[in-house]
Amino acid sequence: MLKEDGTVTDSREGGRLRLLVCVSGGGTNLQAIIDGIKNKTITNTEIISVVSNNRKAYALVRAAEEGIPALCISPKDYEDREAFNRAFLEAVQQAGPDLIVLAGFLVVLPEEMIAGYRNRIINIHPSLIPSFCGKGYYGLKVHEKALERGVKVTGATVHFVDEGTDTGPIILQKAVSVEKGDTPEILQKRVMEQAEWVILPKAIDMIANGKIAVEDGRCIETDKGGCS
Ligand code: GAR
Repeated sequence: MLKEDGTVTDSREGGRLRLLVCVSGGGTNLQAIIDGIKNKTITNTEIISVVSNNRKAYALVRAAEEGIPALCISPKDYEDREAFNRAFLEAVQQAGPDLIVLAGFLVVLPEEMIAGYRNRIINIHPSLIPSFCGKGYYGLKVHEKALERGVKVTGATVHFVDEGTDTGPIILQKAVSVEKGDTPEILQKRVMEQAEWVILPKAIDMIANGKIAVEDGRCIETDKGGCS
């Protein structure tokens, strides 16, 4: 288990950090986590469940190929948002994860879930927060806006999730150069390869090994290592 401040408590002694990974699409970040666990860049960690809001998400195929329990909970299958939120929260509680990873999950989380899992939910965002983030900034749109603005450097951010959109404590960031002739698709691929697939596994490993704490809304280093 993790403490409220994000550090690992002794009660998880010897046990692995149990991840629930939420996805909506291709699942390349899920794959980076799977690969990180296999090649031991992520230690003391297991994926106990994958949840998708999209039945057609290729991420579900990736989970099935690895024998990871996966389920689809779509807002479309529920009468209203409240009913969806309830079902989603119940599924998460039933799985009982230590850490929830939003790996390209394009659904706004129920507030009850954010409050119940304070500093136990992380998100990967494809820009250097606070640039190109917040409502309406997701997926390819982030890169379209970065190119429109003409930035020379972009990147990715892993952060804890709070009640705002992309406003939680920042765990890791990595910069990526914008090159001449970039299209949103080319830039997205470079940001994924050079930043997202590096810092998301790294952040999980840091959390699993008690290297991160949150103080006054900011991620700080602990004596076992820290944010870089
Ligand atoms: C990733 O680029 C991720 O950073 C982004 O969605 C993509 C999912 O790709 N997330 C957001 O934009 C969240 N605001 P994937 O399904 O291949 O991991």
